[in-house]
Amino acid sequence: MGAGKSTLGPALAERLGRPFVSVDAVVEEQTGSSVAQLFAERGEAGFRELEERTAQELLLRRNLSVVELGGGGLGAAATRDALAASAFTLHLETTPDEAWERVAGNGRPLARDPAEFRALYAQRRELYERAADGSARDVDGAVLAAAGIHVAAGAVERLGELVPGAGAIELVLDGGVEQLHGGRVRAALGERLAASHVVPAGERAKTLAEAERLWSAVRLGRDGTVLALGGGSTLDVAGFVAATYLRGIAWVPVPTTLVGQVDAAIGGKTAVDLPEGKNLVGAFHWPARVVADMELLETLPATELANGLAEVVKTGLLAGEPLWELQAAEQVRRCAAFKAAVCLRDPLDRGERAQLNLGHTFAHALEAASAYELPHGRAVGLGLLAALRLSGLEEDARTVAELLRPEPVRVDREAAWAALARDKKAAHGRPRLVLLETPGKPRIGVELDEDDVRAALDSLIVV
Ligand SMILES: NC(=O)c1ccc[n+]([C@@H]2O[C@H](COP(=O)([O-])OP(=O)(O)OC[C@H]3O[C@@H](n4cnc5c(N)ncnc54)[C@H](O)[C@@H]3O)[C@@H](O)[C@H]2O)c1
Ligand SMILES: [Zn+2]
Repeated sequence: MGAGKSTLGPALAERLGRPFVSVDAVVEEQTGSSVAQLFAERGEAGFRELEERTAQELLLRRNLSVVELGGGGLGAAATRDALAASAFTLHLETTPDEAWERVAGNGRPLARDPAEFRALYAQRRELYERAADGSARDVDGAVLAAAGIHVAAGAVERLGELVPGAGAIELVLDGGVEQLHGGRVRAALGERLAASHVVPAGERAKTLAEAERLWSAVRLGRDGTVLALGGGSTLDVAGFVAATYLRGIAWVPVPTTLVGQVDAAIGGKTAVDLPEGKNLVGAFHWPARVVADMELLETLPATELANGLAEVVKTGLLAGEPLWELQAAEQVRRCAAFKAAVCLRDPLDRGERAQLNLGHTFAHALEAASAYELPHGRAVGLGLLAALRLSGLEEDARTVAELLRPEPVRVDREAAWAALARDKKAAHGRPRLVLLETPGKPRIGVELDEDDVRAALDSLIVV
């Protein structure tokens, strides 16, 4: 009570693209009386009966929605069972002082006396903690909890408890990261760690040969978990192995790059490269948990940080907020939450998830034309410039130019154009782009005149 459910609930529902239902509101609607009236007329027990029946109906219906359930509702064993069976239960954290401030004087039946209110809070607290699958203080926290993403400095030390289940864990880690962070991670996993597999540093890990080596080396049963420690490359191959080994076992990415924390670890896409192109073979496989520990980024070289910053800027443009101005920890939290919400709304990339490709059609074309010599961040910086200019957002293009300083590249123009036309987002050979109406309002699948797209691409290339 007073935790802010009725503010956060609808906001969360909107972020997840799901309906919002309040148990209290449904009870009020069905009886034609307010909760206060029901308390007065039928006593608390009478109200609880109605609440329990309504909560059951709403929860067991299992249609994807955000349900607001009042604090007292957990008193009913049947409601607790329904939550455990059908819901992801989020505990909205608050302190008794904050909660009292919100409810004092608003006439709620159980919030008339501060001392009684505090006693009730203390009495219910344990029940909440037992029923909860996660906890949050704000909408981003709620999205992250629902997506299974844990973002916290020092989280690696708690990996033993953060990896769900009790089965064995096998670690797949980037060769370059092993010396830096492997020891801490192994120590935190303790006895659950059954084996470690080192893969080549960076993109060289993303091959079918590496996947095959891992398929053969892993000894986990169906209750086992693959834990991936490294940047997006390691996560992609380890996630793909987890998605396919025994037809799919749990995996937990622990990203060690900024790209990994704000992008690659989020949303369940896994893949390896083929000689024919990047990410051509893969699977959707949502992680059992993501553990993003910003302290792991302290050893990251500046060039790798710059790659991540480009994705942060992209995310800020999509979200319509200058997320790049936030300090590091909050930046990771907000960016991860933004991508997680998009992916929860469109987990299989059939619709609006395409917005995450902002700037990437151009970026991929430039990368391909450079034979992948061009760093991804620089390519994305250039791609964002082109997308913003084609969107008619000159001022935002200038902001991106200042933030990322993307230098035009020296690649073959024809090769870049051919790669753009081949891009998997092309429909009938015509490039389809993600543009912005304004920051925060993406437009996907935009087909523009070929000459304009070609001119935008050419402007990123020096001859
Ligand atoms: N699955 C997805 O949704 C998704 C999203 C974005 C990117 N990706 C993929 O991610 C890959 C790029 O990943 P990336 O940019 O994270 O880099 P990366 O995994 O390729 O690693 C780059 C380099 O950084 C080093 N490194 C990693 N963490 C370090 C640390 N903490 N300290 C010092 N060095 C460290 C690595 O050893 C490597 O040499 C691409 O293959 C891309 O396709 C996937
Ligand atoms: Zn990218």
